[in-house]
Amino acid sequence: MDHIRIGFRLIGSSKIPISLSLTKYPHWLICGPSGSGKSYLVKYLIWHLLRLSMVELFVADFKNSGDYEYMDPDHLAVGMECIDMIRRFYKRYNEIKEANMEDRIILIFDEWAAYCLWAESCDKKMAKETKDMIAEILMMGRKLGSNGGGAYIWTVLQRPDAAYFGGSRENYFVKIIMKDVTKSIRMMLDLDEKDIPAEHMVMPGHGVCVMDNAIYAFIVPSYDNTAMEALLKAERERSRKQGPRCCHT
Ligand SMILES: Nc1ncnc2c1ncn2[C@@H]1O[C@H](COP(=O)(O)OP(=O)(O)OP(=O)(O)O)[C@@H](O)[C@H]1O
Ligand SMILES: [Mg+2]
Repeated sequence: MDHIRIGFRLIGSSKIPISLSLTKYPHWLICGPSGSGKSYLVKYLIWHLLRLSMVELFVADFKNSGDYEYMDPDHLAVGMECIDMIRRFYKRYNEIKEANMEDRIILIFDEWAAYCLWAESCDKKMAKETKDMIAEILMMGRKLGSNGGGAYIWTVLQRPDAAYFGGSRENYFVKIIMKDVTKSIRMMLDLDEKDIPAEHMVMPGHGVCVMDNAIYAFIVPSYDNTAMEALLKAERERSRKQGPRCCHT
């Protein structure tokens, strides 16, 4: 089983869990305005990801939000370190492909738009190199050989403008929009307003998930942040002592 729970659908008075298979849905796009609950959702997703076998998680937190301090330093990059993180991730993607390995690696990139704008403004060659790497993985990373290996990209940003994706936006199997699904975002993602319940336009933690051409409204359950961070730190300690639950060494 490689299912990741994103939250619950509300159907009448019932809460129906909604979980997605990582193999079936490898690349994810998570967008929504500031304060809409993207990072809160991502933390909930990471809790599920860390429990999967054969998955190695890398996080690039471009704005150094402090939201990922429970990650081990080898798997967390902030600010300019994100350039090196992309290169390292691309190298692992190539190793998995060339050696037909069964490892699955995921890069969660928080504040991708801010990274693209910054990279473009400071070094166009480096911006192109790193954006091309991500675009290639989006196109080719789903299945790397016959042993089940893969490299998956989860991109987090406020507005999914085409300029940040160079044509590769269609490679996201799951698109999640938290809170305000504005007209411009609906147009970018080909969504119809009538499919989105009104409360999912205004409440933090309420989102819509688009996959297989269907739209599902869902809510991310509230959790205690301190307790969640303690659980994630405990998982990090466990993996520091015993090695990742997940990856081959
Ligand atoms: N599902 C939820 N249940 C309860 N509170 C929530 C939920 N989602 C978000 N919140 C509250 O909203 C706050 C802002 O959420 P979050 O930091 O995830 O926003 P964001 O979309 O990542 O914003 P930014 O783009 O500025 O990083 C959280 O600190 C939390 O207090
Ligand atoms: Mg955030």
